[in-house]
Amino acid sequence: MTNKLRYFIANWKMFGDFSSFRIIQKTNQYLNKEKNFNKKKIVFCVPYTLIHFFKKKIKSKLISLGSQNCHHHENFGPFTGSISASMLKKIGTEYIILGHSENRAEGETNQIIKKKIASSLNQKLKIIFCIGETYKDKRNGKTFSVLRKQIKNSLEKKFDKNKIILAYEPVWSIGTNKIPKMNELQDIIKFIKKDFKKIFKTNKFPKILYGGSVNHKNIHLFSAINEIDGFLIGSASQSSKKFIDIIKNYYK
Ligand code: PGA
Repeated sequence: MTNKLRYFIANWKMFGDFSSFRIIQKTNQYLNKEKNFNKKKIVFCVPYTLIHFFKKKIKSKLISLGSQNCHHHENFGPFTGSISASMLKKIGTEYIILGHSENRAEGETNQIIKKKIASSLNQKLKIIFCIGETYKDKRNGKTFSVLRKQIKNSLEKKFDKNKIILAYEPVWSIGTNKIPKMNELQDIIKFIKKDFKKIFKTNKFPKILYGGSVNHKNIHLFSAINEIDGFLIGSASQSSKKFIDIIKNYYK
Protein backbone atom coordinates (compact mmCIF):
# COMPACT_ATOMS: atom_id res chain seq x y z
CA MET A 1 0.00 0.00 0.00
CA THR A 2 1.27 3.41 -0.88
CA ASN A 3 1.76 6.29 1.50
CA LYS A 4 2.14 8.79 -1.33
CA LEU A 5 -0.44 11.55 -1.68
CA ARG A 6 -3.40 10.38 -3.74
CA TYR A 7 -6.14 12.53 -5.27
CA PHE A 8 -9.77 11.46 -5.50
CA ILE A 9 -11.50 14.13 -7.54
CA ALA A 10 -15.23 14.04 -8.15
CA ASN A 11 -16.43 15.46 -11.43
CA TRP A 12 -20.16 15.84 -10.95
CA LYS A 13 -20.72 17.20 -14.46
CA MET A 14 -24.33 18.49 -14.84
CA PHE A 15 -25.52 16.86 -11.64
CA GLY A 16 -26.61 18.04 -8.23
CA ASP A 17 -28.72 20.46 -6.27
CA PHE A 18 -28.56 21.80 -2.71
CA SER A 19 -29.64 18.43 -1.27
CA SER A 20 -26.62 16.75 -2.91
CA PHE A 21 -24.51 18.21 -0.11
CA ARG A 22 -25.25 14.99 1.76
CA ILE A 23 -22.77 13.23 -0.57
CA ILE A 24 -20.03 15.55 0.67
CA GLN A 25 -21.21 15.19 4.26
CA LYS A 26 -21.11 11.39 4.12
CA THR A 27 -17.69 11.44 2.50
CA ASN A 28 -16.48 13.71 5.27
CA GLN A 29 -17.89 11.40 7.95
CA TYR A 30 -16.03 8.51 6.36
CA LEU A 31 -12.76 10.47 6.21
CA ASN A 32 -13.08 11.44 9.87
CA LYS A 33 -13.68 7.85 10.97
CA GLU A 34 -10.88 6.35 8.96
CA LYS A 35 -8.20 4.84 11.15
CA ASN A 36 -5.54 4.03 8.60
CA PHE A 37 -3.79 7.21 7.84
CA ASN A 38 -3.19 7.55 4.13
CA LYS A 39 -2.43 10.89 2.62
CA LYS A 40 -5.24 11.82 0.30
CA LYS A 41 -6.83 14.89 -1.21
CA ILE A 42 -10.54 14.87 -1.88
CA VAL A 43 -11.99 17.48 -4.24
CA PHE A 44 -15.59 17.86 -5.32
CA CYS A 45 -15.91 19.64 -8.67
CA VAL A 46 -19.53 20.67 -8.67
CA PRO A 47 -21.71 22.88 -10.90
CA TYR A 48 -21.22 26.65 -10.55
CA THR A 49 -24.66 26.93 -8.92
CA LEU A 50 -23.52 24.96 -5.87
CA ILE A 51 -20.06 26.32 -5.08
CA HIS A 52 -21.06 29.22 -2.86
CA PHE A 53 -23.69 27.25 -0.94
CA PHE A 54 -21.38 24.28 -0.37
CA LYS A 55 -18.43 26.48 0.54
CA LYS A 56 -20.38 27.96 3.43
CA LYS A 57 -21.37 24.50 4.65
CA ILE A 58 -18.06 22.66 4.41
CA LYS A 59 -16.29 22.73 7.75
CA SER A 60 -13.75 20.05 6.92
CA LYS A 61 -10.21 20.76 5.84
CA LEU A 62 -10.15 17.33 4.21
CA ILE A 63 -12.42 18.37 1.35
CA SER A 64 -11.88 21.07 -1.28
CA LEU A 65 -14.22 22.47 -3.89
CA GLY A 66 -13.60 22.79 -7.58
CA SER A 67 -15.36 24.04 -10.69
CA GLN A 68 -15.59 22.29 -14.03
CA ASN A 69 -14.78 25.06 -16.52
CA CYS A 70 -14.59 28.84 -16.92
CA HIS A 71 -14.55 31.45 -19.67
CA HIS A 72 -11.08 32.33 -20.94
CA HIS A 73 -11.56 36.05 -20.22
CA GLU A 74 -10.33 36.52 -16.68
CA ASN A 75 -12.62 39.23 -15.31
CA PHE A 76 -15.98 40.78 -16.19
CA GLY A 77 -16.84 41.09 -19.88
CA PRO A 78 -19.55 40.91 -22.53
CA PHE A 79 -19.87 37.11 -22.57
CA THR A 80 -23.50 36.15 -22.06
CA GLY A 81 -23.95 33.08 -19.90
CA SER A 82 -20.28 32.76 -19.03
CA ILE A 83 -18.39 32.65 -15.74
CA SER A 84 -14.80 33.82 -15.26
CA ALA A 85 -11.99 32.42 -13.14
CA SER A 86 -12.06 35.53 -10.92
CA MET A 87 -15.79 35.06 -10.25
CA LEU A 88 -15.15 31.42 -9.32
CA LYS A 89 -12.26 32.31 -7.06
CA LYS A 90 -14.37 34.84 -5.18
CA ILE A 91 -17.05 32.28 -4.30
CA GLY A 92 -14.67 29.68 -2.94
CA THR A 93 -13.40 27.59 -5.84
CA GLU A 94 -9.93 26.13 -5.21
CA TYR A 95 -9.53 23.72 -8.12
CA ILE A 96 -10.74 23.89 -11.72
CA ILE A 97 -11.13 21.20 -14.37
CA LEU A 98 -10.03 22.51 -17.79
CA GLY A 99 -9.83 20.84 -21.17
CA HIS A 100 -12.37 18.13 -20.42
CA SER A 101 -13.22 16.19 -23.58
CA GLU A 102 -16.90 17.03 -23.18
CA ASN A 103 -15.94 20.71 -23.57
CA ARG A 104 -13.42 20.01 -26.32
CA ALA A 105 -16.31 18.29 -28.15
CA GLU A 106 -18.21 21.60 -27.95
CA GLY A 107 -15.42 23.33 -29.83
CA GLU A 108 -12.88 24.16 -27.13
CA THR A 109 -9.42 24.25 -28.73
CA ASN A 110 -5.95 23.87 -27.19
CA GLN A 111 -5.49 27.64 -27.68
CA ILE A 112 -8.66 28.46 -25.74
CA ILE A 113 -7.69 25.99 -23.04
CA LYS A 114 -4.32 27.71 -22.75
CA LYS A 115 -6.05 31.07 -22.11
CA LYS A 116 -8.33 29.45 -19.53
CA ILE A 117 -5.35 27.93 -17.75
CA ALA A 118 -3.54 31.28 -17.77
CA SER A 119 -6.49 33.17 -16.31
CA SER A 120 -7.16 30.46 -13.70
CA LEU A 121 -3.51 30.43 -12.62
CA ASN A 122 -3.66 34.23 -12.30
CA GLN A 123 -6.53 33.73 -9.91
CA LYS A 124 -4.48 31.20 -7.93
CA LEU A 125 -6.73 28.28 -8.80
CA LYS A 126 -5.23 24.80 -9.02
CA ILE A 127 -5.67 23.31 -12.46
CA ILE A 128 -6.83 19.83 -13.36
CA PHE A 129 -5.85 19.76 -17.02
CA CYS A 130 -7.52 16.96 -19.01
CA ILE A 131 -5.95 15.30 -22.00
CA GLY A 132 -6.87 12.15 -23.87
CA GLU A 133 -7.13 10.49 -27.25
CA THR A 134 -10.29 9.45 -29.09
CA TYR A 135 -10.89 5.86 -30.09
CA LYS A 136 -10.01 6.77 -33.67
CA ASP A 137 -6.67 8.25 -32.55
CA LYS A 138 -5.97 5.07 -30.59
CA ARG A 139 -6.84 2.80 -33.51
CA ASN A 140 -4.57 4.82 -35.76
CA GLY A 141 -1.67 4.56 -33.33
CA LYS A 142 -1.76 8.29 -32.61
CA THR A 143 -2.24 8.25 -28.83
CA PHE A 144 1.24 9.55 -27.96
CA SER A 145 1.32 12.26 -30.61
CA VAL A 146 -2.17 13.51 -29.68
CA LEU A 147 -1.27 13.72 -25.99
CA ARG A 148 2.01 15.51 -26.75
CA LYS A 149 0.19 18.04 -28.91
CA GLN A 150 -2.47 18.72 -26.27
CA ILE A 151 0.23 19.33 -23.66
CA LYS A 152 2.49 21.43 -25.89
CA ASN A 153 -0.30 23.59 -27.30
CA SER A 154 -2.11 24.29 -24.03
CA LEU A 155 0.71 24.84 -21.57
CA GLU A 156 3.38 27.52 -21.56
CA LYS A 157 6.86 27.38 -20.14
CA LYS A 158 6.09 30.27 -17.81
CA PHE A 159 3.08 28.52 -16.18
CA ASP A 160 3.65 27.40 -12.61
CA LYS A 161 3.78 23.63 -13.13
CA ASN A 162 3.31 22.96 -9.41
CA LYS A 163 -0.24 24.26 -9.75
CA ILE A 164 -1.13 21.97 -12.66
CA ILE A 165 -2.28 18.38 -12.27
CA LEU A 166 -2.71 16.44 -15.49
CA ALA A 167 -5.68 14.11 -15.92
CA TYR A 168 -5.30 11.43 -18.55
CA GLU A 169 -8.82 10.60 -19.71
CA PRO A 170 -9.09 8.51 -22.87
CA VAL A 171 -12.22 9.87 -24.55
CA TRP A 172 -13.40 6.34 -25.43
CA SER A 173 -13.34 5.42 -21.76
CA ILE A 174 -15.47 8.23 -20.36
CA GLY A 175 -18.90 7.01 -19.33
CA THR A 176 -18.55 3.80 -21.33
CA ASN A 177 -17.45 1.24 -18.74
CA LYS A 178 -14.41 0.57 -20.91
CA ILE A 179 -10.99 0.97 -19.33
CA PRO A 180 -7.51 0.69 -20.82
CA LYS A 181 -5.35 -2.41 -20.55
CA MET A 182 -3.21 -1.83 -17.49
CA ASN A 183 0.14 -2.36 -19.24
CA GLU A 184 -0.87 0.15 -21.93
CA LEU A 185 -2.07 2.62 -19.33
CA GLN A 186 1.17 2.37 -17.39
CA ASP A 187 3.18 3.05 -20.57
CA ILE A 188 1.03 6.07 -21.39
CA ILE A 189 1.30 7.54 -17.88
CA LYS A 190 5.08 7.06 -17.93
CA PHE A 191 5.26 8.63 -21.39
CA ILE A 192 3.29 11.70 -20.28
CA LYS A 193 5.44 12.17 -17.17
CA LYS A 194 8.70 11.92 -19.11
CA ASP A 195 7.53 13.99 -22.06
CA PHE A 196 6.23 16.74 -19.81
CA LYS A 197 9.62 16.98 -18.11
CA LYS A 198 11.36 17.13 -21.46
CA ILE A 199 9.04 19.71 -23.03
CA PHE A 200 9.23 22.08 -20.07
CA LYS A 201 12.78 21.29 -19.04
CA THR A 202 11.80 20.82 -15.42
CA ASN A 203 13.34 18.26 -13.13
CA LYS A 204 10.05 17.34 -11.49
CA PHE A 205 7.57 14.79 -12.79
CA PRO A 206 4.02 16.19 -12.99
CA LYS A 207 1.17 14.65 -11.04
CA ILE A 208 -1.16 12.60 -13.21
CA LEU A 209 -4.66 11.38 -12.55
CA TYR A 210 -6.48 8.72 -14.49
CA GLY A 211 -10.13 9.28 -15.43
CA GLY A 212 -12.66 7.21 -17.37
CA SER A 213 -15.15 4.68 -15.97
CA VAL A 214 -13.39 4.34 -12.61
CA ASN A 215 -15.59 2.45 -10.14
CA HIS A 216 -15.32 0.49 -6.89
CA LYS A 217 -14.95 -2.79 -8.81
CA ASN A 218 -12.05 -1.80 -11.07
CA ILE A 219 -10.13 0.57 -8.78
CA HIS A 220 -7.88 -2.24 -7.49
CA LEU A 221 -6.49 -2.65 -11.01
CA PHE A 222 -5.38 0.98 -11.06
CA SER A 223 -3.91 0.88 -7.57
CA ALA A 224 -1.23 -1.47 -8.90
CA ILE A 225 0.16 1.37 -11.03
CA ASN A 226 2.26 3.46 -8.70
CA GLU A 227 2.76 6.27 -11.23
CA ILE A 228 -0.95 7.18 -11.09
CA ASP A 229 -1.35 9.96 -8.51
CA GLY A 230 -5.11 9.77 -8.29
CA PHE A 231 -8.41 9.69 -10.12
CA LEU A 232 -10.96 11.92 -11.77
CA ILE A 233 -14.25 10.20 -11.14
CA GLY A 234 -17.44 11.06 -13.02
CA SER A 235 -20.69 9.16 -12.59
CA ALA A 236 -19.48 7.07 -9.64
CA SER A 237 -18.90 10.27 -7.65
CA GLN A 238 -22.58 11.13 -7.77
CA SER A 239 -23.26 8.59 -5.00
CA SER A 240 -21.53 8.76 -1.61
CA LYS A 241 -21.46 4.98 -1.31
CA LYS A 242 -19.87 4.43 -4.71
CA PHE A 243 -17.37 7.24 -4.18
CA ILE A 244 -16.37 6.09 -0.68
CA ASP A 245 -16.08 2.47 -1.86
CA ILE A 246 -13.63 3.58 -4.54
CA ILE A 247 -11.42 5.20 -1.88
CA LYS A 248 -11.73 2.19 0.44
CA ASN A 249 -10.97 -0.35 -2.25
CA TYR A 250 -8.02 1.63 -3.53
CA TYR A 251 -6.22 1.06 -0.24
CA LYS A 252 -7.37 -2.56 0.28
P1 PGA B 1 -16.77 8.75 -15.83
O1 PGA B 1 -16.31 10.24 -16.18
O2 PGA B 1 -16.08 8.37 -14.53
O3 PGA B 1 -18.27 8.84 -15.68
O4 PGA B 1 -16.34 7.88 -16.95
C1 PGA B 1 -15.02 10.69 -15.93
C2 PGA B 1 -14.88 12.12 -16.37
O5 PGA B 1 -15.55 12.54 -17.32
O6 PGA B 1 -14.09 12.88 -15.78
